[in-house]
Amino acid sequence: MELETVQLHIIDNVAHVILNRPEKRNAFNSQMIMDLTDAFRTLAEHSCRSIVLTGEGSTFSAGADLDYMSEMREASHQDNLKDAMRLADLLELIYTHPKPVIARVNGPVVGGGNGLVAACDIAVAKKGSFFAFSEVRLGITPATISPYVIRRIGEGRARLLMLTGERFTADQALEYGLVHRVAVMGDLEHAVHGYTTALSLGGPKALEECKKLIQKVGEEPLDSVKNYTAEMIADLRVSEEGQEGMGSYLDRRDPEWQKG
Ligand code: ACO
Repeated sequence: MELETVQLHIIDNVAHVILNRPEKRNAFNSQMIMDLTDAFRTLAEHSCRSIVLTGEGSTFSAGADLDYMSEMREASHQDNLKDAMRLADLLELIYTHPKPVIARVNGPVVGGGNGLVAACDIAVAKKGSFFAFSEVRLGITPATISPYVIRRIGEGRARLLMLTGERFTADQALEYGLVHRVAVMGDLEHAVHGYTTALSLGGPKALEECKKLIQKVGEEPLDSVKNYTAEMIADLRVSEEGQEGMGSYLDRRDPEWQKG
């Protein structure tokens, strides 16, 4: 797999996906969306246990590439739609990815960059980073990212942040629920490592199913998920992984998946 704008390294069962256009503050153009899609598709089949998404250089991501976006004025509505769908598909791929994904927010996050953060399961931000939904100031809206951001921070906060376009701090992002933790630079690695270690203790299939559970139960009314939740636990407790997990606890040994 050849990636032009993204780096991919796998170290000790953790995949690191790095946005790599630091000279453009990791703004994403169509090549980066393609590269990220290829990287996340490949990782869905890989045996790594978790994925860390981060940016090279001073910024996590400056959102959509504005040079590229303004060039799209020459394109037809159909081509603009196809292009926007590629970002929508990428966000869905990350959100529904079988592996847990951690956003390591190494610096500012503007516009669409917030969609990448919100599509991740866990987000840790470097203290001093700032965030902004600048879209309305550019005469557009945070359209494709909105399903993930609104689920994460709620409609009320989305109204404040998306309508004003004002910058907010990492501590405010923590308070709003966009990120789960704020760490000073030296502690950022430590915080991310703490999460990848915790994730490596869970059964791989259990983590995958747990992501589906959270999504479905979060989206659907109580009465329509009752059967689904009962079916899930009925299947998982007799599954190979469920039996191994509970058996290892009773035998006072580590489960097989923690040995790899
Ligand atoms: N698209 C294209 N190029 C960009 C983008 C972008 N979104 N953001 C930054 N760049 C480019 C700049 O034009 C500049 O290029 P140049 O060196 O060729 O002149 C280079 O990246 C560095 O930018 P600076 O602004 O000098 O970097 P700084 O570190 O001071 O600030 C920051 C970083 C805060 C991210 C700033 O660049 C910024 O606010 N960018 C605009 C972000 C934005 O509004 N994005 C929303 C896009 S809309 C959407 O996502 C749907």
